[in-house]
Amino acid sequence: MTAVMTTDAVATAYDRWAPVYDLVFGPVFRQGRLAAIRAAEAVGPRILEVGVGTGISLPHYSQGSLITGVDLSDDMLEKARTRVRRQGLSNVQAIRVGDAEALDFATSSYDAVVAQYVVSAVPNPTRALDEFARVCRPGGEIIITTRVSADKGFRGGVEKALMPITSRLGFRTDFPFTLYTDWVATRDDVELVESRPIPPLGHFSLVRIAKKDAA
Ligand SMILES: C[S@@+](CC[C@H](N)C(=O)[O-])C[C@H]1O[C@@H](n2cnc3c(N)ncnc32)[C@H](O)[C@@H]1O
Repeated sequence: MTAVMTTDAVATAYDRWAPVYDLVFGPVFRQGRLAAIRAAEAVGPRILEVGVGTGISLPHYSQGSLITGVDLSDDMLEKARTRVRRQGLSNVQAIRVGDAEALDFATSSYDAVVAQYVVSAVPNPTRALDEFARVCRPGGEIIITTRVSADKGFRGGVEKALMPITSRLGFRTDFPFTLYTDWVATRDDVELVESRPIPPLGHFSLVRIAKKDAA
């Protein structure tokens, strides 16, 4: 898969989405977000949410979690900050600009790294996955909700055909699951522990990747 997007273009695309994002992508991804949060909180309280966007997931974390959210888009983050303030979300420790491909956090500093509907929007997904693995502690988990494209058939053809349009809107429709399995195969410190379909339409999955405990 070639990188068809640039970081600046993605940030601009989501600055444009910000005013209507929750309306368009709120309810449709809700079940996936709740499942990802449940999985993250089972691992530990220190949670980094990459691509936190408008912070739509933040009110669903429990009070005992300690959440940091990063995103490329200033306008999305402004919505997140407003949400945190208005709803008094005292479990949110920081909301900051940050690039999934170059995270500004110490190695092994989070119990769980959550990326919801983000990896297919990142220009270089495997670079982001490397960063998720770096900041996740041994024994922790990377929890991803992700688009998964059909390899072939009518849906696969449509997803490939839509790529020039959707990549300008800030996401890929053509995003094979092998991106994750191939990445896991390149590393000896992570393992795929779960992949299960989540709504809507069976086009998305919840993926859990564990960082192995240090020997
Ligand atoms: C489809 S939205 C998902 C937002 C939110 N996680 C949700 O559940 O609705 C993708 C988000 O990823 C962010 N994003 C894309 N590439 C990124 C990168 N390299 N680093 C950080 N955030 C990124 C976008 O700005 C956008 O807010």
